[in-house]
Amino acid sequence: MSHPPPAADNDLPALFTPFAARGLTLPNRIVISPMQQYAAGADGRPTDYHLIHYGRLALGRPGLIFTEALCIAPEGRLTYSDLGIWDDGAIAPLGRLVEAMRAEGVVPGAQILHAGRKASVQRPWQGYEPLREADLTERGEAPWPTVAPSAIAANPGWPVPRELTLAEIPDLVEQHGAAARRCAAAGFAALDIHGAHGYLIHTFLSPLSNRRDDAYGGDLDGRMRFALEVAEAVRANWPAERPLFYRLSCIDDEPGGWSLEDTIRLARELRAQGVDVIDCSSRGLGQRGTPVVAPRQQGFQVPFAEAVRRRAEVASMTVGLIIQPAYAEAVVAEGRADLIAIGREALVNPQWPLHAALELIGDGAFDSHWQPRYGWWLSRRAKSLAAARDEAQG
Ligand SMILES: Cc1cc2nc3c(=O)[nH]c(=O)nc-3n(C[C@H](O)[C@H](O)[C@H](O)COP(=O)(O)O)c2cc1C
Repeated sequence: MSHPPPAADNDLPALFTPFAARGLTLPNRIVISPMQQYAAGADGRPTDYHLIHYGRLALGRPGLIFTEALCIAPEGRLTYSDLGIWDDGAIAPLGRLVEAMRAEGVVPGAQILHAGRKASVQRPWQGYEPLREADLTERGEAPWPTVAPSAIAANPGWPVPRELTLAEIPDLVEQHGAAARRCAAAGFAALDIHGAHGYLIHTFLSPLSNRRDDAYGGDLDGRMRFALEVAEAVRANWPAERPLFYRLSCIDDEPGGWSLEDTIRLARELRAQGVDVIDCSSRGLGQRGTPVVAPRQQGFQVPFAEAVRRRAEVASMTVGLIIQPAYAEAVVAEGRADLIAIGREALVNPQWPLHAALELIGDGAFDSHWQPRYGWWLSRRAKSLAAARDEAQG
């Protein structure tokens, strides 16, 4: 399978050409990246906040919105406010978010996660540190024990996770499969497995966090085993016509860590397991979440998506500090990535895709790309403003 850059389609910018995978066609190449909101109830269910948050993003008309990470088990949450997908009771409330996104013409996607040794933390604005006795006294939030492939703490001074026994691993694989089945039942059309940022799957992959000497550790094949078994279990529970994404930290960026060569090898095997798009992020094994240490600039993770796309011959999505529409357009037009994921910039401007359409297409985008409830009026306003400008100049 090879993915040529999008063909010119009625002179549409590449960013606004459709993207097809299996039975799904996205109307454009812009994807809202998964972003945890820490706004769920203690039962892991979405609240009205989620409806407003995802509705606000949906009005911006990206091709696809991924929900924040949905945790596959209560002990796989980061915080007590993470969304959960560990029981069938989650299906109907998440289905309401799906309907809200679909109503605005956006494809709804979900991400699934087990946080592994980075579970049991405070919300970011409360310190983002491991839960302590003080959190129990102040908010009734007791810390819980974490698990990982090896008993190595995520950061100095953090609790040491319990090493998973060989007998426990099939249950974790199965929990990913069950989560996929529930996401399908809720109506999500795309699914992203979170295998990045130092969470459970990533800790199996990296030699820095996996020191096992059984079938799930040791050489690259052993360390990849869990990630591949998760892909297989998810694919078996996820409808054949719906695409599957897999988020990877393409490099650890630490001496002796996971490398881009390892990513290319894994991406090929994931493709063989029925994964359709590699969601290319990086780092996070030591630091939490969004990488903050190496030099940052717009598109700093594009080279990973480009290498995966070209060398593993699988579609790729890039993410990371993408802000300017012209830059995003060039990445897609040059065939460096199939999809552009926008994270924090969408928090700044939830209408980023609509602004990108205006910048790349002109005022005609009010009619062609904006939803008519806004666009009908704004197209007329644009003409009035242009006429006023002409009059002032002439
Ligand atoms: C508030 C917030 C929450 C995040 N939560 C998740 C998450 O649930 N799953 C995930 O894979 N990445 C998560 N990320 C990382 C983003 O998806 C994205 O990869 C990162 O922010 C870099 O892209 P950006 O520069 O466009 O923001 C989160 C980022 C932010 C800012």
